[in-house]
Amino acid sequence: MIGSINHIAIAVPDIRAAMAQWQERVGAEISEIQTLPEHGVHVAFIKAENGKVELLEPIDENSPIAKFLEKNADGGMHHICFDVEDLIASRDKLIAAGGRVLGSDEPRIGAHGKPVIFIHPKDLSGTLIELQQA
Ligand code: CO
Repeated sequence: MIGSINHIAIAVPDIRAAMAQWQERVGAEISEIQTLPEHGVHVAFIKAENGKVELLEPIDENSPIAKFLEKNADGGMHHICFDVEDLIASRDKLIAAGGRVLGSDEPRIGAHGKPVIFIHPKDLSGTLIELQQA
């Protein structure tokens, strides 16, 4: 059901400081910062040969990742996103298997302009998983 890893998201308290660390310490190539007000984050993409890692900084205390950073002050891995061929079929399979979608069961438009759902972390190894329509 799940396809390629689309991205791994890391929440950080200071995106510019995080970018500098990734550039200086491991030679990462990183995009410009983009601000996504409807998702409450500033984001920059670390390029890897086979995918990307997103650095996410909350815009303000109402950001969906603000609470995560209260518990993880240095930052930390926030979620993993997989591409799926058919998001609705994947959602239905998840629910039929006893898994829960965070918030509404209906997909919403994610940070990359495509429909996504998030699976409740308690239902998958304590890790927040995003499924994105490929
Ligand atoms: Co994501």
